[in-house]
Amino acid sequence: MRILVTGGAGFIGSEYVRMLLGASGRHTPEVSAMTPTRLTVLDALTYSGNPANLDPVRDDPRLHFVQGDIRHAELVDRLVPGHDVIVHFAAESHVDRSIAGATPFVTTNVLGTQTLLDAALRHGVRRFVHVSTDEVYGSIAEGSWTERWPLAPNSPYSASKAGSDLLALAFHRTHGMDVVVTRCSNNYGPYQYPEKVIPLFVTNLLDAGTVPLYGDGGNVRDWLHVHDHCRGIALVQQRGRAGEIYHIGGGTELTNKELTARLLDACGAGWDRVVAVPDRKGHDRRYSLDITKIQTELGYAPSIPFDTGLADTVRWYREHRSWWEPLKTAAAG
Ligand SMILES: NC(=O)c1ccc[n+]([C@@H]2O[C@H](COP(=O)([O-])OP(=O)(O)OC[C@H]3O[C@@H](n4cnc5c(N)ncnc54)[C@H](O)[C@@H]3O)[C@@H](O)[C@H]2O)c1
Repeated sequence: MRILVTGGAGFIGSEYVRMLLGASGRHTPEVSAMTPTRLTVLDALTYSGNPANLDPVRDDPRLHFVQGDIRHAELVDRLVPGHDVIVHFAAESHVDRSIAGATPFVTTNVLGTQTLLDAALRHGVRRFVHVSTDEVYGSIAEGSWTERWPLAPNSPYSASKAGSDLLALAFHRTHGMDVVVTRCSNNYGPYQYPEKVIPLFVTNLLDAGTVPLYGDGGNVRDWLHVHDHCRGIALVQQRGRAGEIYHIGGGTELTNKELTARLLDACGAGWDRVVAVPDRKGHDRRYSLDITKIQTELGYAPSIPFDTGLADTVRWYREHRSWWEPLKTAAAG
């Protein structure tokens, strides 16, 4: 099987690549039936894309890395033929950046996805896996969203992801293309660019700095280890039904304050290191996914308990200063 992975040098895409090529360091029975014969990564290497994320598979002869933009129709049209499956991770992914400026979110997440879908259709790609987020539903006070819930995104990021989801599903309904969409909750783990809350807090605390806590700290997120997200995507890639949406989640629901307490504890720091900052504009209060569908249809269950996964993650950042220090220096400069 020949697989094209967009955004494969980012946080989640690179875990998917490492997992498919047997270098995730974790047992992954979901992958044994789908070992790729060729795996092409298409990634523009924006600020969050990092070739070092692929170091563990750099010498694998099946891996072909192409630095390029999914919005570049000619490049995409040249690259797509010869691939059986596209797994589409590439996106602008940080809500705060989308509040500061929405243009790259619309062009990459919406137009870039359409450019890929067009090429996949033209060249008869067998399956298109579109990776999306629970944020497309907005915020939910109680209970959990099912896959049939109406979309009500609140940030330019989530609105652009919702647009890309609808386009992907429209290519199935209009053209009969084999498209599957996944929507996942918040991910954590190694190789996450240190602007998102967990790596930002951990690296600040390891550097004896402070950490910014939004508003009253009461916003709730469901945390899933990145490897469990990728296992879910692998199941959907293999056995998901065309035209369907699958939720991936089932991690641990925590308020930001509860998460902060665990991170302080893991880094041996106290509350004096926490600085309250004004809330994010339009900040969604709570996300919660119902994952019954992927559990019952595909036998999915998360495998990494949050406390173990968080301890592993903190250890990873502690032991990989050479990975994150240059990123923080470049961001500060
Ligand atoms: N991080 C989460 O918690 C989370 C949760 C659910 C879903 N998702 C989705 O998963 C996907 C991956 O997220 P992530 O956290 O790994 O993000 P990331 O920012 O770490 O990685 C995104 C990757 O896409 C690449 N990219 C960006 N624009 C591109 C373009 N125009 N052309 C080619 N490559 C481009 C970047 O260089 C980077 O390597 C996204 O689609 C995101 O919406 C993320």
